[in-house]
Amino acid sequence: MNTVNLTINGKATSANCEPRTHLADFLRDNHNLTGTHIGCEHGVCGACTLLVDGVPARSCITFATACDGAEVTTVEGLDTDEIAAELRTAFMKEHGLQCGYCTPGMLVSARDVILRMQDPTEHDIRFIMSGNLCRCTGYVGITRAIQSVISDRRARGIAAIPDGGRVRLGPAGSGNAGAVSASQVARGTAAVSSLPKTTVPGTAPAASRKDDGWKPQTTFEQNFTVAHPIDVVWDFFGRVGEVASCLPGASLVGEPVDGHVEGQIKVKVGPISAEFHGVADIARNDATRTGTIDGTGKDKRSNSATRGRIGYAVKEGARPGETRVDVSIGFTLTGMLAQFSRSGLVQDVANRLIAVFVQNLEARLTHQAEGKPAEAAPVITEFDAGSLMSSVLVGQIKRLFAKLVRRR
Ligand code: FES
Ligand code: FES
Repeated sequence: MNTVNLTINGKATSANCEPRTHLADFLRDNHNLTGTHIGCEHGVCGACTLLVDGVPARSCITFATACDGAEVTTVEGLDTDEIAAELRTAFMKEHGLQCGYCTPGMLVSARDVILRMQDPTEHDIRFIMSGNLCRCTGYVGITRAIQSVISDRRARGIAAIPDGGRVRLGPAGSGNAGAVSASQVARGTAAVSSLPKTTVPGTAPAASRKDDGWKPQTTFEQNFTVAHPIDVVWDFFGRVGEVASCLPGASLVGEPVDGHVEGQIKVKVGPISAEFHGVADIARNDATRTGTIDGTGKDKRSNSATRGRIGYAVKEGARPGETRVDVSIGFTLTGMLAQFSRSGLVQDVANRLIAVFVQNLEARLTHQAEGKPAEAAPVITEFDAGSLMSSVLVGQIKRLFAKLVRRR
């Protein structure tokens, strides 16, 4: 048993639980907060959505012990929340619920949309709410309810808080939500959470060529160190074809022309093989040793599309002769594979992909340092993240695969 200290709906509590107890069970069984519903327990349906440090989170895939010290707000804690109250009225008026099973999660997610988005289109709302499934209503009433609350609030001069005021990096429960009180959360007036940043410090000035206001749906940061001098690593990053060859499954269609390149990447996750074909714009800044890659791609088979931005900064490592590379990755995934970006699976795959990339990069740079052609180094060219997945996610993948097969 572990002791977990939480502030739940504004009240500090301390309780013992097994390390494996997920937050939804902890709240329902230990605190009788049964407004948090459990549907799939796979992080897919959104029924269990609540706020951890003001950020919507799936309580079925969040361990209670991992939230030690966090502020948790369940649907019961939104009783006096202004936005939630308006939403409840609008859901009733627009027939946004039938059996009500999905409703607590819907309210929490919808509240976040209203808090953050100034003037979303119906498509924006449907897209953002796609992480909450409803088996009864067909979503029309839910979408209308959210639209009506937004237009009403904007007409009353209540503006959205850009990005919900999220400025510091960290997933829900990481303690990086900033100084936000539970009462602010309850009033719906606070900048309540901590969406990750989209750039590595120093990479933003290198600027993507597609600075058109696009914001990725999911972002995360990574860094790694290679045992080679900074000039060598920076030079290598300028050879796009060789960099792509370090990424298993990636290849270019021809050489880059004016910073523009076409390519493809195959990723195998258990039974699913996605093959994204697309184009990318590449920008580099020699002065700051930073760069960006902006790309879009499509996987025809699953009818999924992605847009992504990779920013990188090459820096001196902690020890002489070493180089540290900070990478920020932001992406939006739409279509059938989009549910994986919500479950965190895409980030998991990306992290594993980066680990293999670093291994290949080391191999190529070492070969080059030994006076041999870098491209002759033996590297890992195939990547199957499926073998490393948890059984829960494999189940999720199998169901999606079955759908894909039926579509063919
Ligand atoms: S029960 Fe948590 S996402 Fe379905
Ligand atoms: S109202 Fe029944 S699942 Fe949404």
